[in-house]
Order: sequence, then structure tokens, then C-alpha cells
Amino acid sequence: MKTTIEIMSEQLGSAFAEAGYDKDLGRVRTSDRPDLAEYQCNGAMAGAKLYHKAPFLIAGDVAAVCEKHSEFVFTAAVMKPGFINLRVKNDFLADYLKMVAADPHLSIPQEEKPKKIIVDYGGPNVAKPLHVGHLRSAVIGESIKRICRATGNEVLGDVHLGDWGLQMGLIITELRHEQPDLPYFDENAESFPEEAPFTISELEKIYPTASAKSKEDEAYRAEALEATKELQLGRKGYMALWRQIMKISVADLKRNYERLDVHFDLWKAESDAQPIIPWMIDDLKKRGIAHEDQGALIVDVTEPTDKKEVPPCLIQKSDGSSLYATTDLATVVDRMRNYHPDAMIYLADKRQALHYTQFFRVSRIAGYVDKDTELDYIGFGTMNGKDGKPFKTREGGVMRLEILLDDIEAEMKKKIADNRNVRSEDADETAKIVSLAAVKYGDLSNQASKDYVFDVDKFTSFEGNTGPYILYTIVRIKSILAKASEEDRAAAEGCALLPADGEAGKALMLDISGFGAAIGDARRELAPHKICAYIYQLSNDFNRAYHETKILAEENDEKRRSYLSLLRLTERVLETSINLLGFSAPDHM
Ligand code: ARG
Repeated sequence: MKTTIEIMSEQLGSAFAEAGYDKDLGRVRTSDRPDLAEYQCNGAMAGAKLYHKAPFLIAGDVAAVCEKHSEFVFTAAVMKPGFINLRVKNDFLADYLKMVAADPHLSIPQEEKPKKIIVDYGGPNVAKPLHVGHLRSAVIGESIKRICRATGNEVLGDVHLGDWGLQMGLIITELRHEQPDLPYFDENAESFPEEAPFTISELEKIYPTASAKSKEDEAYRAEALEATKELQLGRKGYMALWRQIMKISVADLKRNYERLDVHFDLWKAESDAQPIIPWMIDDLKKRGIAHEDQGALIVDVTEPTDKKEVPPCLIQKSDGSSLYATTDLATVVDRMRNYHPDAMIYLADKRQALHYTQFFRVSRIAGYVDKDTELDYIGFGTMNGKDGKPFKTREGGVMRLEILLDDIEAEMKKKIADNRNVRSEDADETAKIVSLAAVKYGDLSNQASKDYVFDVDKFTSFEGNTGPYILYTIVRIKSILAKASEEDRAAAEGCALLPADGEAGKALMLDISGFGAAIGDARRELAPHKICAYIYQLSNDFNRAYHETKILAEENDEKRRSYLSLLRLTERVLETSINLLGFSAPDHM
């Protein structure tokens, strides 16, 4: 269905044409001055240059035409120097909202040409615990996946596990030092035990130990590099060990992502690209795209318009081993062959921007992605502590995601117990739901590229621009609807809406009429924060209307049912929105 802005732009455009001006000047947008108008058009100002006429006169001509058209959905007023201020007619607004209520997509615009999109997010590294740095990728990526899906696209989320780089060599090396007699290290061994030689918590200790040693001990590091290369070449024992590491890590990662309500369609890993790498290296060499430089293989990717130098992309190290760009490039080839996506969207820390510029360029130069296949990179900022530095534990270590979530849930449980709206047996479950909303909304309400401060007190507050506040609004609506009679509820479900009878009700109705446009913006700009801003405004306007209106106590049946219809629609829009953000609401809180 059309957005209200589209409907108004068409009508105002036809008024421009009827008054003798270009109809494209009639483009409508939300007002910069909500105190003066709901929507506005600045076309008369642009027209002034074209027609050598004062904008005020042009606007006046157009407004005069509008007055003749009683079917227009707005009223127009001229303001100096030539703004056309618009107000939506109340009866149209009520009719429009009924259409929203009846639309299977609740007015979310559907892609004209649906795309096949792969969202590459999460990106955890096996054998390393999920830490807060991976939280942003998971949270933002999940939301982007859901937004793209809701707008009619076919979307696959791929976790793209980091399992093929130096960290694997480090783990193998450390294990070899700790337990040299394991069959995995015997070059002649043919079969390997079923059981893994470690538990997940043991495994998670191995990596930090190895990483620390490699920074101090040259020989140790060389050993790890060698092990990485041998793994990539398919050494039997290392492959068997790698499989054990994968099995244990992936089970643990799945549990963690489940808790975050983050779901991947594909559990692919860097190593899945390995079968393509030899072919790709050969292909890049043969076609003269890659060349040797001090033993390594590189591709020049500079472009004449570069303002900053973009160094060549390193495809293979001098010892023949693969790098981050190698697996990412081969993964692109694999995805094009097996999925033929129209777009690939990557999420990673913005400090990785150069890597994406480089391997995107190689993909284009080599023709590994179709011309019409989009490559998008969303670089997100750092999650900082209150001291403005990257978020750490109290002891200064890397904060494990699980611990962070445990802390917030405990905090939230206290709050919920104090409120006493929730039965004690439901407190744990409710605390989980509300905490997840607190964490995700706290993240998503910031523009992805910006750093933000992870402020538990603020995020868990039931007031202000927070997840719990949004949930509180939904719960409030649910509880009013639960108290309504069955007939009233049925009427609300069918959207028995009357035109607004006051400013607060109208503001709320205007918000709801802008739902489709808000989701359309979020899709176009891949920007979940737009949805947060939208539902915050909607919640504020709802709560204002709620305080100004008696709802269940209203004696006029039609009026009461109209209010309840508006409540129900607000609830549907809020629930749909939070689902796109990746969290849900409890029944009580
Ligand atoms: N494993 C990487 C990291 O921890 C993120 C992977 C992002 N995805 C990709 N295709 N490079 O930084």
C-alpha cells in the first residue's frame, strides 16, 4: 500500500501541475516544525528559480488549487517565504489506519523486485568465547536480516565462523605443548579418538594462553604459523583436531546465540572456502590480476579517485598460507556459485573497513561478483564502558558475553521483584525477556557506525529512550485490552476507528500512519536505529494520549471501541517493530 507521503505528494503534484508548474515540485515531507504543520512542501522555493516568480506567489497559486479539491487528503496553508504547510484530514487518517490494520504487511512496503540477500554477521571465532565485541555484530545483523525479510526479500543469515586463521594454529600448538602424546600430533596416525581431548572451558583457556606466549616467544609463534599452514594443507591429525574444536565450539556458540534470540540459516565457516582457494589463487595469477611481491601474492586495488592510499590486498602469504582476505574472497566465489545472491551485507567492527574495501575491490576486478550484485559493509563502532574506553570487566579483561547477560538479568530481576506486577514464578522468564530488550535496544538505538557507552543503569531503566520503556508501553496496552469486554475487543480487532477527536489522539494516529515509511527508511539505509526512533516517538505519543483520555470508562460505545481499536493497532505496530529489532515483550512487567 502507498505511504501517506506518497498519496499527498501525488495530490500536491497534480495541484502544482494544475496551477501551471512542474508536478515534481509537489514532493511532500514530514514537517521540520511540528508545531506549525504535520507535513510540508518546499517546492515553491525550488520553483522560484525556474519560473522567476516569488515563492510566496507560487505557493499561493497551488494552495488555491488545493482548496478546490475536496477529495484531497490534506488542507494546505502558505507560510512565508513560500512553504506549503499541510495538515492531514482526520477522516482520511482514520480510513488510512483501517487500511493499515487490514493490510497483511501492516503497511510495511514490499520490495518491487525481491532480492536474495546474504547477511554475513556474528563472525565469532571458534575456540574463543563470545565476547562483547561480537554482541554488536549479532544484534545489528539479526535486525537487518529481519528488516530485509519483512520488506519481502529472501534473506539468508550466515554466521561465517572464524576457523581458518592463525588462532587455529595457536590452539594446535598449545595443545601440542600440553599433551604431546595425543595421536593428533603423530604424523603416521590414521585414526583418532571419538572423544575430544578437552571440554569447552578447557578449550577457552587454551587460546589466551597460546596468544600470550606467541607474543613473547618467536619460536612459539613460528610453530603456530607452521601449524596453521599445515592445517590449511589438510594434515590429517590437525584436521581431526580441528573437527573436535569445531564440534565443541559450535555447540557452545549455538547455545549463546539462542539466548540472544539470534538465528543463522547458514553455519558456514572460513574453512568452507578452502576447496576454492587453490583454484582461485591460480585463476588470479593466470589472468595477471595478482602478482608476487617479496614472495607474497598481492592484488593492486588503488583507484584514481582514492583520497587516502589503499594498499594492495594480500591474497597469500610467502609461506603459502591463507589470510583473512583469502577466505573472504573464496567465500564470495562460493556464495555466487551456490546461492547467486543479489546482495551481500557484511557486519564487522568499523576498524576492519580497509579489509572490506580491499576484498570488495578484488571481487569486482576479478569478476567474482556479478555487476548487479551489491556488496555492502556496515562497520559498527565500539561498545565502551562508562569511562569511554572499550568495555572491560572490572579486572580489566575482555568481558564474556554470558557474564554480561547474567549481570543484567540479575539486575532486572531485582527491579521486577520490586515492581510486584509479576508472579514470582514468572520473574526469571520476565527478567530474561526484558534484559534482552534492554541490551538490544541500548545498542540498536544508536547509529551503528557510532561508538556508544554501555550503561546498564540507563539501559535497564523503565523510563526514557530504553527497551524496557517500550516494553512497558506494550504491556500497558495489553493489560487495558485484557480488561475490555469481549465485544469491545472484537471491535478493536476489526479496527472500529473514528476520526481523531483531539490533538493527542491525532498525533498517535499520524505516527501509526508513518509506520510503513519508517520501516522503508530503515530498509533502504540498513538502519535499525530508525525503527528505535520511530517507536520511541510512538510510545511517547501513546502514553500522552493514554493520560489524556478515559478509555474503558468512556460510556459511548463507538468512542470507547474506537479508542480500543487505536490501542490495538498501536500494540501491533510496536510488537512488529520490536520483532524487527530482535526482541519481544512479556505479558506483565
Ligand atoms: N571473525 C571476524 C572477527 O572476529 C569477523 C568476521 C566477519 N565476516 C567476514 N566475512 N569477514 O573479527
